[in-house]
Amino acid sequence: MSSMAEKIRWGVLATGGIAATFTTDLLTLPDAEVVAVGSRTPAGAQAFADRFGIPRAYGSWQELADDPEVDIVYVATPHNAHFAAAELCLRAGKHVLCEKPFTINLAETLTLIDLARERELFLMEAMWMRTNPAMRRMLEIVNEGQIGEIKSVHADFHIPGPFAPEHRMRDPKLGGGALLDLGVYPVTFAHAVLGMPDAVTSWAAMTPEGVDETTGMVFGYDYGAVAALTCGMTSVSPVNALVSGTTGHVELGPLFFRPDAIRLHRAGEQTQVIDVPYAGNGMGHEAVEAMRCLREGLTESPLVTWQDSIEVMTLLDRVRAQIGVSYPGEEHV
Ligand SMILES: NC(=O)c1ccc[n+]([C@@H]2O[C@H](COP(=O)([O-])OP(=O)(O)OC[C@H]3O[C@@H](n4cnc5c(N)ncnc54)[C@H](OP(=O)(O)O)[C@@H]3O)[C@@H](O)[C@H]2O)c1
Repeated sequence: MSSMAEKIRWGVLATGGIAATFTTDLLTLPDAEVVAVGSRTPAGAQAFADRFGIPRAYGSWQELADDPEVDIVYVATPHNAHFAAAELCLRAGKHVLCEKPFTINLAETLTLIDLARERELFLMEAMWMRTNPAMRRMLEIVNEGQIGEIKSVHADFHIPGPFAPEHRMRDPKLGGGALLDLGVYPVTFAHAVLGMPDAVTSWAAMTPEGVDETTGMVFGYDYGAVAALTCGMTSVSPVNALVSGTTGHVELGPLFFRPDAIRLHRAGEQTQVIDVPYAGNGMGHEAVEAMRCLREGLTESPLVTWQDSIEVMTLLDRVRAQIGVSYPGEEHV
């Protein structure tokens, strides 16, 4: 890796929508440099490199991973390819920031984490929500007991689509479905506030392609709390999150994963609006955190720990087993 005083050198793997948004934010960070991009095709890599002024463009993931002047690779493929792309980069000795959901299933997540641990490399799920100012402030408020004992979490994330049958949101081969793409946010939110549930109940309306279109989940906690979570890809929802406790509640949203303010209601008091602005598109915060970890020699981020990703993937697997979504090549969920 480049020395502490130098910029961290990023490689971007895949050239789709989120790769462009993330790269835009990365280019605003003074201690980051985007030095290379890798795509399935040379033309795709070159077009992305031209668009963002990236010096090196590779028509294969391996060439990107083998570039000695790349410190960390950001993986932004469809879900189904996260594992193969991240594994290839770790095996080539690269640190990795990998898009959400971390992988298709828990088994893949465990394999990646073992590999990172064995090779002493940094690995982080790009669950940007957990690094964003609003989420961090909300967790402080909750953990300080400002709204008492937490009794419930509500969160929704629906988008209207529509998506063509071959779109990655609908294609089982690409890990389609609302749960892995959108539901991962409400699940991660509830997990961050309440931890691992003791009971999970879920139901989904399915698409003709056999993935979940609209999904509801109830998580139960024996200590006396509940989470009610929904996601979907054919409707319009507020995309809010609400944490309720014995003495108040805190609300995030719309776009609870990236609001610029949160509302704190405490019984008998006026609502406080707390400003927690995000920078750029809100994706630079996870990059800042990844670079802080690299400079401090950490292999995992305390904001998005390996155990967090393991537990969220465990929950996603459990929900998928209940709603009957499995992906090609999976022996079991
Ligand atoms: N954090 C966020 O807010 C956020 C938002 C949106 C998406 N995401 C995540 O980011 C990932 C990508 O989403 P996206 O919306 O950017 O998708 P996208 O626009 O379809 O782009 C995905 C890119 O991956 C590559 N690719 C396409 N099909 C592939 C395949 N079959 N195998 C391997 N690579 C393939 C392509 O790049 P090349 O042609 O260069 O190979 C494509 O441009 C998803 O896992 C999603 O969950 C995160």
